[in-house]
Amino acid sequence: MINDCYYDSYDKKENLHFDSKVVHGALGCDPITGAVSFPIFQTSTFRHRTFDVSTGYNYSRLQNPTRQELERTMAILEEGTEAFAFSSGQAANMCVFGLLKKGDHVILSDDIYGGTFRICQDIFSGLDCEFTYMDMANLEQVEAAIRPSTKMLFVETPTNPMMKVADISALAEIAHRHNLLLVVDNTFLTPYFQKPITQGADIVVHSGTKYLCGHNDVIAGIVVVTNQELADHFRLQMKSRGNGLTPFESWLILRGLKTLSLRMERHDQNAKKVVEWLRTHPKVKKLNYAGLGGMISFETDSAETVKHLLSDVKMILFAESLGGTETLITFPLTQTHESTPPKVREALGINERFVRISIGIEDPDDIIADLEQAMG
Ligand SMILES: Cc1ncc(COP(=O)(O)O)c(C=O)c1O
Repeated sequence: MINDCYYDSYDKKENLHFDSKVVHGALGCDPITGAVSFPIFQTSTFRHRTFDVSTGYNYSRLQNPTRQELERTMAILEEGTEAFAFSSGQAANMCVFGLLKKGDHVILSDDIYGGTFRICQDIFSGLDCEFTYMDMANLEQVEAAIRPSTKMLFVETPTNPMMKVADISALAEIAHRHNLLLVVDNTFLTPYFQKPITQGADIVVHSGTKYLCGHNDVIAGIVVVTNQELADHFRLQMKSRGNGLTPFESWLILRGLKTLSLRMERHDQNAKKVVEWLRTHPKVKKLNYAGLGGMISFETDSAETVKHLLSDVKMILFAESLGGTETLITFPLTQTHESTPPKVREALGINERFVRISIGIEDPDDIIADLEQAMG
């Protein structure tokens, strides 16, 4: 078959800095019309001009130019070989764990997003896979937990919601010495602050819903891989599960990505100011911040303080999720980490006195003033 496609080749823009790459994407402009805003190819199928001649696109479940522009852009930003855009972070993670075979074992961060824990415990444990949860910063403990059946290390860094940080390069060294895959969930820092593949990770996964999108208006997931074999796995998963991101939502993420650097910089600056203010607040007992990015969490003096805080915030929104322009405050106990077993939650400190805040890009003085009046 002749592949007659205008969208085939694109420039990896290796000569550009990261801040320019986010703006200019993979193709950036439409190669046919020159449209500066990459078109939304809202089509389910593609016409073949004649027998044995294809544009390279057949059916949007398999490939769609708008989704492909997002995927190529993410591969460029994370410095992987290929990327895949899924209908949610959960869909992306389902396909990551889809790499497992019966009897395989995985070592994961003990403090991970509750939904990831649910995938492991409620779905893959039933398929005879085994999961061990631990502090991935403790490298000796990680190495000691490796079994002959271990297939993968899965790490969130910083973790959700305790902001624990792991050493990706050291984990990659351990993983590769034992012939394991290292998967990093890079949702919290994004490639603006952290590029796990450059530190040895094999797969990067994102809830694209968060900072990549940046505007709290899309649910999306991204997987970035480092070799052909992994790419084939995710291509088959997307084709078979039918969980690729829609053209419009792909376009929204592409649009969000253009301001990724600006937003991340502002989230980071704002978070540092809020952290400074919280540090001396008499009702804050333990503050968690990774030193980078826009996510913070803290334990207060009482459940009563949390009740007031969540009820009385005005500009700040009491809502799940993170990574958008608006500051959101979350109660992990009953929201994001409801699926985490009570024993694990208790050990980590996810209790009725604990909140997580995704610092937005508003004026930091307004964020602090709102917290001040709501905390009393
Ligand atoms: C770190 C992390 N990974 C994965 C997910 C799942 O992503 P989604 O909600 O887009 O399905 C989330 C969602 O909160 C998350 O915080």
